Amino acid sequence: MNDVEINGRIWMGRLRSLDTCPNRPSWHFRHSVCVLAFNSKLYGFLNLKKKKFLDLQKKKKKKTKDMALCFRNIKRHMCMLMRQNFAKSCESKLNDQINMELKACHQYLAMAYHFDRSDISSPGLHRFFLQSSMEEREHAEKIMKYMNKRGGLIVLSSVPEPLPCFASSLDALKQALKMELEVNQHLLDLHTLAGEESDPNLCDFIEANFLQEQVDGQKILADYICQLEKAQSDVGDYLFDKYMGVGMHANK
Ligand SMILES: [Fe+2]
Ligand SMILES: [Fe+2]
Repeated sequence: MNDVEINGRIWMGRLRSLDTCPNRPSWHFRHSVCVLAFNSKLYGFLNLKKKKFLDLQKKKKKKTKDMALCFRNIKRHMCMLMRQNFAKSCESKLNDQINMELKACHQYLAMAYHFDRSDISSPGLHRFFLQSSMEEREHAEKIMKYMNKRGGLIVLSSVPEPLPCFASSLDALKQALKMELEVNQHLLDLHTLAGEESDPNLCDFIEANFLQEQVDGQKILADYICQLEKAQSDVGDYLFDKYMGVGMHANK
C-alpha cells in the first residue's frame, strides 16, 4: 500500500491497485467517488423531504387554527342572533367605560397601599381606597356581564400605570375626585349616546346602576377634601363642627 498523488493530493494507502499505475484511478477510487456522490444526492433528497414534511406540518397547523377561528366566528354569529338594537358605537363606548373602571380600580389600589406604608401609616385612608378599588372592579364586571347579555364583544385594553406616590392625603383625595369626575363625564356621554341611538335598555342600565352612585361617591370625596382643608387652615372651626356632631344639641 503506497501513498499516491492524484491532482496534487496525496492518497495514503487506500487505493491498493494504484501502486502500478497512479495516473489511472482504480475501481476502488471510482467507487468511492460514486459513493460520495450518491451520499450527497441522498442527503439532498432527504433534506428536501424533511423540508416538505415541515412545510406540510406548518400548513396543517394553520388549517387547524383557521378551523378554530371559523368555529369561533360561527359561535359569535350565534351570539349575534340575540343581539337587538345595540349599536356598534354603544358597544365601543361601553368597552371604554369598562377600561376606565379598571383603570380607576388600579389607581385606587395604588393609593390604598401607598397609605399602608409604615412611613405614612394612614389606616383609615388605606381602608377607604381599598374599598373604592373593589367597587370599581365590581363596576367593570357589571358592565362586562351587561355586554354579554346584549351580544356585544368585550375588548379589554392594557391598564395604564397608576400614580405611585402622593404628597399628602389631601393630594390623593383631590386626585381621586378628579378621576371620579372623568368617569362620571364618560358615563354621561354614554347615556347621551344611548339616547341618540334609541337604546332605552342601555339608558336604564346606566341610570339604575351608575349615575346616582357616582354622584354619592363624588359628594363623599368633596366632603373629605373640605374637612381636611378646614382642619389644616382652621383647627378651631373644624373641632367645633366635630363637637356639634357628637356633643351639645346633637339630637336636634
Ligand atoms: Fe366606577
Ligand atoms: Fe367610582
